[in-house]
Amino acid sequence: MSDPDSMKRAAAARAAGLVRDGMRLGLGTGSTARHFVDLVGGLVRDGMRLACVPTSEQTRRQAEALGVPVTTLDDVVELDLTVDGADEVDGALNLIKGAGGALLREKIVAAASRRMIVIADAGKRVETLGAFPLPIEVVRFGVAATRRRIEGAAAGVGCSGELVLRRASDGDAYVTDEGHFILDARFRRIPDPAALAAALSGAPGVVEHGLFIGLCAGAIVASTTGVDILGSLE
Ligand code: A5P
Repeated sequence: MSDPDSMKRAAAARAAGLVRDGMRLGLGTGSTARHFVDLVGGLVRDGMRLACVPTSEQTRRQAEALGVPVTTLDDVVELDLTVDGADEVDGALNLIKGAGGALLREKIVAAASRRMIVIADAGKRVETLGAFPLPIEVVRFGVAATRRRIEGAAAGVGCSGELVLRRASDGDAYVTDEGHFILDARFRRIPDPAALAAALSGAPGVVEHGLFIGLCAGAIVASTTGVDILGSLE
């Protein structure tokens, strides 16, 4: 395994080995989760019965095209397992997620799961979160005021940096599946992720942020030398 895509596929293959007949399964979003969904398609073709909740419209389309049975958290309120990618993973299994813009649904699905397992290439493993910009999903109303509120909340827990409004490829502001904007926070270093998560959650206008604290049970991290397991996959 020398390139990141082979590593992503190796991590996804290890996670596919956790899937059992009859499971209610959360399907993540992004290039690593895409490999996992492909493999789930193979399991379904081989006769496995699953009920799957996708974390984005993009993943829902992929799953449906593969014949994977798709349901919603209105019909299935608890999931057995969710497998998703991440932008950064630290040693305590705190995550930054949301580069693909699906952080809100991803967090709802992870929180509804008995187990959330992250699949990633070794480039995602960090000592301290924050080099990757932290996505913060905000309502469209009053973005400038919300931005100022976030800056104040973050400064109170030792984080500062530019908040950049995410843009789509056509130059317009990027709009999430739930109809919100995203501010990408370039904090560079997040000394206390739990404190920042609490501070952001208290800011009016913030819908959700990409810090996943205490949600991930285990991570499958693939490198050039093999696959490492952080935490527990059970
Ligand atoms: C999607 O919103 C994200 O949380 C992704 O799970 C995360 O960005 C990882 O994506 P890749 O697997 O494409 O790196």
